[in-house]
Amino acid sequence: MHIVAIYNNKGGEGKSTVTVGIAEFLAANRNKKVLVIDLDAQASSSCALLGRVALNTAISERRTVVELAAQLRQSRKPSIDPEQFIVWRAGKDARGSALESLALLVPEGDRMYDVETSMQWGRHNDLFLKHLKPKLTEFDYVLLDLPANVTKSAMICINGLSMADFVLIPTRSTHISLNGLPRTFSLIDQIRDVNGNGRPSVVGFLLNATDKRNQQYRSIVKPVVEVAMDGDIPAFFKNHWPSSPAFEASTDEDRDARTLKERFGTAYEHARKVARELEVACEKYEHKQAQPVKLNIWQKLGLA
Ligand SMILES: Nc1ncnc2c1ncn2[C@@H]1O[C@H](COP(=O)(O)OP(=O)(O)O)[C@@H](O)[C@H]1O
Ligand SMILES: [Mg+2]
Repeated sequence: MHIVAIYNNKGGEGKSTVTVGIAEFLAANRNKKVLVIDLDAQASSSCALLGRVALNTAISERRTVVELAAQLRQSRKPSIDPEQFIVWRAGKDARGSALESLALLVPEGDRMYDVETSMQWGRHNDLFLKHLKPKLTEFDYVLLDLPANVTKSAMICINGLSMADFVLIPTRSTHISLNGLPRTFSLIDQIRDVNGNGRPSVVGFLLNATDKRNQQYRSIVKPVVEVAMDGDIPAFFKNHWPSSPAFEASTDEDRDARTLKERFGTAYEHARKVARELEVACEKYEHKQAQPVKLNIWQKLGLA
């Protein structure tokens, strides 16, 4: 089992879009058993994968992250049965590459803020990690769609990152996005210090919404990728996720796509390759301890 957090402390970098794409391809194209834990109150990936109606049904049946966190909090020695909270999406059979069945743990709107505020550093920071992680071994991949965070005390992010083996960081290929990377690392480094076992390890950056005609792409992204190739910062994925209406449409909650081709259209090959690259990277990094990123690297790159 690999637990991969899709994280960037900035919003709008593509965390949810990437989570949805990777989940669908690992499940349908690679035949993996996938659980998506959506920790963002906005529920973007839950809506995209389940649809609004099924999401609301899950909430009314109290199958949510909020209820799971409440149960963990209430009992001193929690014995949690994740199945009680997981929602299964049935696979959709059609000719071609059908969508596979997926498991989801969904958020619950504003009540996610209660989860956030009821957790405290040092007391509940290992709740998900300690009690949930050992129960998820039936899954090949657990993908965590994290929210953006402003402070280093964002407990939902802390919880998600502390149970993750790996972090995949989607980043748009603009100056403003690359400037956010040092801050993204500050929370990851903090969790790594607390965990003390080199986890989570950054499996790589994924350039999202790339447009090679763009001046910023040519002048800014290239030097950063070159430094990454020297091994000073984690690698960039070889495959990009281009800016494309097909990716934008892939998370449309009203779309009843039955196949990967229908859901991803012209983005199909890009999403397939990135999911495959993640799979290979997870295997490769499995036993490798992560190196903290050297602080002066960010300065060298002119990033904040
Ligand atoms: N590769 C892409 N091409 C086109 N639009 C994209 C792409 N990636 C993300 N978007 C759009 O950008 C917005 C933010 O993406 P999202 O995945 O919700 O980011 P995050 O989860 O990091 O906040 C969404 O409207 C999404 O449809
Ligand atoms: Mg999101």
